[in-house]
Amino acid sequence: MASVLISYYSKSGNTEAMAQILAEAVKSAGAQATVKRAEDTTNKDLVEASAVALGSPDYFSYVAGQVKIIFDEALEVKSNLSAKPSLCFLSHGGKAKGPFENLMKAVGLTLVCPCVMSQSAPAGVTVDEIKKAGKALVAALKK
Ligand SMILES: Cc1cc2nc3c(=O)[nH]c(=O)nc-3n(C[C@H](O)[C@H](O)[C@H](O)COP(=O)(O)O)c2cc1C
Repeated sequence: MASVLISYYSKSGNTEAMAQILAEAVKSAGAQATVKRAEDTTNKDLVEASAVALGSPDYFSYVAGQVKIIFDEALEVKSNLSAKPSLCFLSHGGKAKGPFENLMKAVGLTLVCPCVMSQSAPAGVTVDEIKKAGKALVAALKK
């Protein structure tokens, strides 16, 4: 079964809530979801996953340091990540969206949709958008 790595950093729980919604959407679309904290995520995790979703709070219009470390390390395995379907998700703000998407592309990942955004805890339409993104990620694996 295709496996989707969902890796995130969260301090006050908003990004974590997005990760959980994403995991449920991935599972209901027929793939396996592995949810991991950014601090516990390794290059091996990235390489072995069929698809990758990375989440961060907006910290000073950028990703959190714990998530930036994933990208710093991932450059070493860029050749193994090329063309791997991916998405990023971001809690709060909006200014980190561009930098986050650029980091995803910089390590060779292929974005299936624009960065998914949630102002504080996900609710309403935002929940639907997260679910839609999770389904798009699994759909990309079936192409
Ligand atoms: C150190 C720090 C820097 C932040 N910088 C920004 C920012 O530049 N723009 C913004 O919209 N929110 C900023 N925030 C707010 C967080 O992005 C927001 O509270 C987010 O939902 C927290 O996610 P979490 O609950 O997963 O930890 C910042 C929060 C912290 C702690």
